[in-house]
Amino acid sequence: MRKKIILDCDPGHDDAIAILLAHGNPNIELLAITTVVGNQTLEKVSHNALAVAEIAKIKNIPIAKGTERPLVREIETAPAIHGDSGLDGPILPTPTQTFHPSHAVQLIIDLIMSYPPNTITLVPTGGLTNIALAARLEPKIINRVKEVVLMGGGYHTGNWSAVAEFNIKIDPEAAHIVFSAGWKVTMVGLDLTHQALATPDVIQRIAEIGTKPAQFVVELLEFFGKMYKKSQGFDAPPVHDPCAVAYVIDPSLIKTQQVPIHIELTGTHTLGMTVADFRYPPKPCNTQVATTLNREKFWHLVIEAIKSLGDDQ
Ligand code: BDR
Ligand code: CA
Repeated sequence: MRKKIILDCDPGHDDAIAILLAHGNPNIELLAITTVVGNQTLEKVSHNALAVAEIAKIKNIPIAKGTERPLVREIETAPAIHGDSGLDGPILPTPTQTFHPSHAVQLIIDLIMSYPPNTITLVPTGGLTNIALAARLEPKIINRVKEVVLMGGGYHTGNWSAVAEFNIKIDPEAAHIVFSAGWKVTMVGLDLTHQALATPDVIQRIAEIGTKPAQFVVELLEFFGKMYKKSQGFDAPPVHDPCAVAYVIDPSLIKTQQVPIHIELTGTHTLGMTVADFRYPPKPCNTQVATTLNREKFWHLVIEAIKSLGDDQ
């Protein structure tokens, strides 16, 4: 049985690769792609989602636009990492697909309510605005979702401040709603995703696939790599968002530890920090953090997914 997911994203270079991984892996059924403001404005990331769908030959999967600003804070985007379009680097194809008529938040609710409980996994790879609004608009979804596996946060480091990660920092109030809702949350944060570096040998292996989707990924990673070097000093870029999809595909790829997680909402220097409590004795909680990645198996999954997309455009 394929695992049913909704990918809520803000493409974004690594979000784009997360979409390709989800669509190209035989064990995942991608029920919908929903978009949220984040790496760029809602208009830009939503257009990018359609363009990626074109590359991946995604045809009958709804793509719905979501929320255009965070719950409380002003919009903060990430052009220093993803460029002016949100997906700078490759030339993007012109989308042929149109958006689903529903708002992303409504589509998320409708899908969760129409499938049996414990069926759908939510995979947010952007700010948590859509997911928080869905939980508030229809609280019944909280007990029906199988789990939430999100890319965001970190328990040792930040990237948007000394201690806060971008997806959490741009909408900390939404993150608070999602982390405290009561559903099972796996936080695939920077501690984990900084182990998923697209080193030159990985890029070479992708280039050797020789197809158009592979070339697209190589161009994404080359741009992403340059920006990560320039703005954060990385020798190879961390490919964050596909790690969350990979965990859903095969949880044995990633070690986790169950710990309570609280979102800092008031700190002067710590706003958006994901405060993970590792103290003994362990406290009962619904949240866990990802700690260790099996890199080789991870890249194998990504590469096989890209291969499965073929070449005929
Ligand atoms: C996260 O922020 C975004 O820029 C990436 O797409 C990823 O989801 C990493 O901090
Ligand atoms: Ca993202």
